[in-house]
Amino acid sequence: MINMNEAASGRRAEQVLLVDDNPTNLQVLYKTLENSGYTLLAARDGEQALSIAEKALPSLLLLDIMMPGMDGFEVCRRLKANPETRGIPVIFLSALTDTDAKVEGFSLGAVDYISKPFQAEEVRARVRTQLRIHRLEMELARRNAELEDENFQILRAVTEAIFGLDRQGRISSANPQAESLAGRAHQQCIGEDLFTVFDFQSLQPRIEKALAEGERLSLDEVKLRTTDGRDLTVAMYCAALEGERRVVVLRDITDWLNNQHALEAAREELHSQRQHLAHMERLSTGGEMAAGIAHEVNQPLTAVSNYARVAQRFLEQEKPDKTKLIEILDKIVVQSQRASDVIQRLRSYIRKPTTEGRIPLDLNTVMQEVVMLAEVDSRINGVAIDFQPTSDLPGTLADDVQVQQIGLNLIRNAMEAMRGAPEDFGGVLVRTYREADDVGFAVEDRGCGLSAEMEEKLFSPFVTTKEGGMGVGLSICQSIVQAHGGSIGYRPNPKGGAIFYCQFPVR
Ligand SMILES: Nc1ncnc2c1ncn2[C@@H]1O[C@H](COP(=O)(O)OP(=O)(O)OP(=O)(O)O)[C@@H](O)[C@H]1O
Ligand SMILES: [Mg+2]
Repeated sequence: MINMNEAASGRRAEQVLLVDDNPTNLQVLYKTLENSGYTLLAARDGEQALSIAEKALPSLLLLDIMMPGMDGFEVCRRLKANPETRGIPVIFLSALTDTDAKVEGFSLGAVDYISKPFQAEEVRARVRTQLRIHRLEMELARRNAELEDENFQILRAVTEAIFGLDRQGRISSANPQAESLAGRAHQQCIGEDLFTVFDFQSLQPRIEKALAEGERLSLDEVKLRTTDGRDLTVAMYCAALEGERRVVVLRDITDWLNNQHALEAAREELHSQRQHLAHMERLSTGGEMAAGIAHEVNQPLTAVSNYARVAQRFLEQEKPDKTKLIEILDKIVVQSQRASDVIQRLRSYIRKPTTEGRIPLDLNTVMQEVVMLAEVDSRINGVAIDFQPTSDLPGTLADDVQVQQIGLNLIRNAMEAMRGAPEDFGGVLVRTYREADDVGFAVEDRGCGLSAEMEEKLFSPFVTTKEGGMGVGLSICQSIVQAHGGSIGYRPNPKGGAIFYCQFPVR
């Protein structure tokens, strides 16, 4: 009894189960529906009806009420009690016309009622209608299940904790992440006030207000405490949904924040280690220059003591010439100032890193200082330093002592490279310059120059070609420059020798 159209379209014909204890009635029903395109199944009593319904899961039951043994009401009750068969619509058929029977039928979940004796057309129309409704319901249920399943999967998949709140601000839904953030099982979340699950501390009034007024609120760092005593930091988002409901999204950023702090601490540690290393290098350079400095200071001190002796002799005279005496004292002041300047320069060079760090700098002034500091070595090495400042140089932001340190390192390397160079090669040329958005200085020499192999590893630590050299000078220069966002480099001098340059962004 398969409808040909449906068979051709590959769809299974809908099954209708006819239940009546009276064979004649069954036959009449059968005849009534036989050419309507359904597969008709038949049962003679309640037991048989239930067993066929469970196996075949028909789309509709036409069920007689008055049957010996299990009556139609009981069949219907059992059908509705079984989750498998609960959805099958039931139309009662009965000679009973009293309203009570109809009411009972509907209260058991029947969808319609046909009185006997029935009209064939009426039966067909009601069956057709109920099957259509059933079909639509099934389709709707399927779509709902699909959507629910998809929503469920989305809510499970996201890493955020998502709470739905009802009109009273109580939690009406919570995804698994929300449950684990709250530290509560599903049942202990649902129906609870959000503020009893989390203590938002100082931000609580603000969040309460936003939720009450349905205002959209997005907060980057919210400190909260859970009822089981965990202190967390979350990013938070609240918004209004339809029907005065709210959604609250929380992302636990506690670990991320801790990592950030650890990273910050490591960065600071690295910075202070670099500062320390640079300071050690200055101390060591200062030590290397000590002999020269001592010599440098000795000269004015000798002059001071000579002038003092002359002054003594003047005072031994009967009438000392006051004007001459003042002249001599002025010379003493100048010479002692010279000695003090040399020491002051060295002291400020080897001082500890300053806390203020970067200050506005004029490279001409800084390099002038460096050249004077290097002059001691210049005399010892017998290599002159020629300083050529560029006028109207814009300023930069840098740590003055550290820039001096770079300058001194480059000048000392240049002088060391030029030791023993012919007289007519001149000395080391130090000049400042401006290039695009940078200001810099270059140190040029006509010394031994660099091999290609040396050039490659020039700025790596502990690379040296000098006896007694540490090979840390250039690597420290590079780390200082990088920390300032500047650049340092080398290029061969076309006249032979090396050119080192170093530049910083204009302030
Ligand atoms: N102007 C230069 N001309 C030729 N070679 C140079 C020049 N500057 C640096 N070098 C080469 O680069 C090497 C590394 O220089 P760097 O200043 O880092 O260490 P160093 O001078 O050897 O030792 P120190 O730690 O005492 O400075 C030097 O040993 C030298 O071979
Ligand atoms: Mg060096």
